[in-house]
Amino acid sequence: MWHLITNALLLMKSRQMVGCNTRGSSFTRALLGLPADELHLCGDAAAVPLVQKMLAATGDSVKVQYYERLSPLVPSKVPLGAFSNIKTGDCVVTFSRREIYKLKKEIEGGGKHLCSVVYGSLPSGTRTRQATMFNDEHNFCDILVASDAIGMGLNLNISRIIFSTLRKFDGLELRNLTVPEIKQIAGRAGRYGSRFPNGEVTCLNKEDLPSIHSALESSSPFLERAGLFPAFDLLLSYSRLHPTRSFNAILEDFVQNAKLSPTYFITDCEEMLKVAAVVDELPLGLQEKYLFCNSPVDMNDEISSQGLVQFATNYAKTRFVRLREIFTPEMLQVPKTQTELKELESIHKVLELYVWLSFRFDDSFPDRELASSQKAICSLLIEEFLERFGWQRPMLRTRMSASSRPDMGRGKATVSRQDVDEEPTRARHRVEAATMSTSPSALVDRGKRRA
Ligand SMILES: *[C@@H]1O[C@H](CO)[C@@H](O)[C@H](O)[C@H]1NC(C)=O
Ligand SMILES: *[C@@H]1O[C@H](CO)[C@@H](O)[C@H](O)[C@H]1NC(C)=O
Repeated sequence: MWHLITNALLLMKSRQMVGCNTRGSSFTRALLGLPADELHLCGDAAAVPLVQKMLAATGDSVKVQYYERLSPLVPSKVPLGAFSNIKTGDCVVTFSRREIYKLKKEIEGGGKHLCSVVYGSLPSGTRTRQATMFNDEHNFCDILVASDAIGMGLNLNISRIIFSTLRKFDGLELRNLTVPEIKQIAGRAGRYGSRFPNGEVTCLNKEDLPSIHSALESSSPFLERAGLFPAFDLLLSYSRLHPTRSFNAILEDFVQNAKLSPTYFITDCEEMLKVAAVVDELPLGLQEKYLFCNSPVDMNDEISSQGLVQFATNYAKTRFVRLREIFTPEMLQVPKTQTELKELESIHKVLELYVWLSFRFDDSFPDRELASSQKAICSLLIEEFLERFGWQRPMLRTRMSASSRPDMGRGKATVSRQDVDEEPTRARHRVEAATMSTSPSALVDRGKRRA
């Protein structure tokens, strides 16, 4: 984990962020640009020489302090073998959401355990609540099935990490996990002062065991370069050289021709170029285009990218984007299938995008509150799905509701916006109705009609 703390303000935390392919640039910018007298960085020793080099150039003085991990982390001599060997506090790691739900089902099918899930496209509030359920020793969810998203700022009381695979699809190909990746994930096991102070690491299959042992024994290679990306002012100056070019062309040209010192690299901007190609079609200023390009859109997600196109198009027309122009009032429902669940996760992303834009384009996105409450409803419906998904076996249900689940079977409740705003957890069970909602098809269709 990398933390960057200035004047007691926690700014960023991600391991080796400075060398991260896509997000490193904001860390670099903060490191070099923050007007603070003193900065405290916490993270992996692999970045120390790089940080020293960067700060030598700026004439700052650097003091390095090394800390040992407080709790032991032990790679196991045997693989898990079968899920019948799973026990309370275990976290099974895999890298696709489909695989996560498959494993959850398989483990719960054994009739002894229930699983919380954590993965990147779950709303962050949902991730946190799933983690809390898993951490709470009085809760019935005692196993975690997760992706590498467990590294994203969650406090987890994990006894043992079990890699179900050491390969990950990275958008292009199925590749081996790197040594730092294995170490970072493995490092989530065991927590000083928790129920599980001694961390253990293993894998499902025997073949993967040697890789785990060798990864944990090797030290992470030192980072050599820090990520960098041009700020808007720089791109603006550059664009004056090519006044007729599209933003996409300017960006591409800049990245290709930029000459950097060996300490830096330009961060990956594939996603940005995709957005640039979209907003270049619209009558927008360079700064507006830059903002849309920096928004948290997922261009590989059809619904999320549709949302961005709609927001940008409507913004270009009137500089005033109501949420209702894009969302058709309809009943939002608890997803019944994996496909519906994925759609709901995507709708959540669109709402998050709206909220993000509302903070950047002052008065042009006036429905921030509505978008926020709809976001909360999406999370609740997703959590409801996760619960129902885990309550399919009557035997378990009876046992659980009699003991640790006093509020089960309380009957149906209706969620109103007020409930959601005030206390998300109280209305957790049996969510039946939402005030205003959408379905992804409505979102796309409306968009087409308006275009
Ligand atoms: C991935 O890891 C396996 C097992 O360690 C190894 O046999 C294989 O060569 C690796 N593949 C690549 C592309 O490095
Ligand atoms: C982890 O476990 C400890 C001890 O059981 C507990 O006090 C703590 O609240 C747990 N941590 C979290 C994040 O729940």
